[in-house]
Amino acid sequence: MAKSIILMGYMGAGKTTLGKALAKKLERNFCDLDWYIEETTGKTIPEIFAESGEDGFRQIEQAKLHEVAQLPDMVIAVGGGTPCFFDNVDFMNENAITVYLHASVETLIDHIHISNTNRPLIAGKSDDELRDYINESLRKREPFYLKATHILNLQTITLQSQIDDYVEQIIKISNQ
Ligand code: S3P
Repeated sequence: MAKSIILMGYMGAGKTTLGKALAKKLERNFCDLDWYIEETTGKTIPEIFAESGEDGFRQIEQAKLHEVAQLPDMVIAVGGGTPCFFDNVDFMNENAITVYLHASVETLIDHIHISNTNRPLIAGKSDDELRDYINESLRKREPFYLKATHILNLQTITLQSQIDDYVEQIIKISNQ
């Protein structure tokens, strides 16, 4: 049984896009932790935030992380906040190969604009507000992300060839 590979990083880093492509290439199952939360609770992420607040979401997120960590040979994309609460990042490092997808603030903003994911923490923000929010929260979050075993630096992804190239790089570094 191979260790699962967990992709972590800020909202818009490309965790889901690259995770799906990586899983396909490695012929593994892919799990997006947010999707798993939505499927198993029957609620959307914004609904959970609205009903239980961020604290309630973080409790559910941790419990669901522990569930998906039991599954063998996976590629898992966790949420942007997952590594930054409780002992989640240490737990992930103990149970999987972890890769931090590092991207500039401008790339994160580009990806957030391209994707149509509903993210309660940044909903309704103007570009300037978004930039300030990301700068501020990334400063607090990066120490957790930097605990990942491997780091991959990403540019804005617009082409399939970039996805293929990053997938190859993740395979290479996760074999180290
Ligand atoms: C969050 C990121 C989201 C989701 C939730 C909170 C965060 O996941 O878990 O909206 O705290 O950064 P993505 O990073 O997949 O958007």
